[in-house]
Amino acid sequence: MTIGFIGTGSMGSTLIQAFIDAKRLAPEEIVVYNRTRSKAEKLQKQYPGLRIAANNRELVQQTPIFFLCIKPHEFRTVLDEIKDHVHDDQIAVSITSPVMIRDLEEWLPAKIAKIIPSITQAVLSGNSLVIPGTRLSETDRNTLWNLFAAISRPLLIEENHVRIASDLACCGPAFMANLLEKLADAAVEETQLPREQALSLVTQMTEGLGGLLSVGGFTLQSLQERVAVPGGITRKGLDLLDAEIGPVFHDLIRLTHTKYAADIQQVKSSFQTEK
Ligand SMILES: NC(=O)c1ccc[n+]([C@@H]2O[C@H](COP(=O)([O-])OP(=O)(O)OC[C@H]3O[C@@H](n4cnc5c(N)ncnc54)[C@H](OP(=O)(O)O)[C@@H]3O)[C@@H](O)[C@H]2O)c1
Repeated sequence: MTIGFIGTGSMGSTLIQAFIDAKRLAPEEIVVYNRTRSKAEKLQKQYPGLRIAANNRELVQQTPIFFLCIKPHEFRTVLDEIKDHVHDDQIAVSITSPVMIRDLEEWLPAKIAKIIPSITQAVLSGNSLVIPGTRLSETDRNTLWNLFAAISRPLLIEENHVRIASDLACCGPAFMANLLEKLADAAVEETQLPREQALSLVTQMTEGLGGLLSVGGFTLQSLQERVAVPGGITRKGLDLLDAEIGPVFHDLIRLTHTKYAADIQQVKSSFQTEK
């Protein structure tokens, strides 16, 4: 199977690395094009056999399945470039949430899917969010599902849930890393624990937490109950968190959704402009 990647930035290169690490794709099965060629060349050096197309047109002419790993505002340029070279038997996969499937189905004759990956796929873990377009056959769906099952746990979602699901699965690692860093920094400020030790302690704890939740048989709820014995220190800490954390996560979700609505509008306007 030959698969194309338009855009080898952060997420394009993470996906390529994950498919190769999982032995799901060989470098020879991958064709890439990136606006700044040096990024693609760096990948080719890392994975000899991986091919670099001369441009996006050439890439779509060589690949039955291709990924659009570009930012929302970059879609119009790429779609203009490829639209006359794409056929109805190809599958185009967007990894970008604010570009609607119905818009992509208007731009391209291809079968469309939206699959939102997460940085967690760099370690072949976490969910990928799968939203099939209307033209995909059962076989196409299975092909995409199996591809992503090699590097993640694919989760079928409705397109109208893509933002909130991305907040949890894709932004989540950054949000949680931020909270953990704040916890470590507070420890340093309150007790003069060396910062290196504080960061190491929260990092190792997080690795263990992942294990407890994935293979240790715990849920988020049962883990809190297990650690927080009545009257103990953890119970007091949890009570304080419950009382004081306030609406910060509600605000966070409202904020991501406001930005998402603005991004959708920006993409829609770029699609309506004459070129
Ligand atoms: N980062 C994440 O964790 C994550 C998770 C899920 C989904 N996503 C989505 O994935 C998309 C890409 O994000 P990213 O973080 O990978 O962004 P990124 O690092 O900026 O990568 C985008 C890449 O696209 C390339 N590009 C731009 N225009 C192009 C064109 N006309 N032809 C070929 N290549 C072109 C850029 O090339 P240059 O080298 O010239 O800039 C850049 O390497 C975003 O829409 C984001 O929402 C990201």
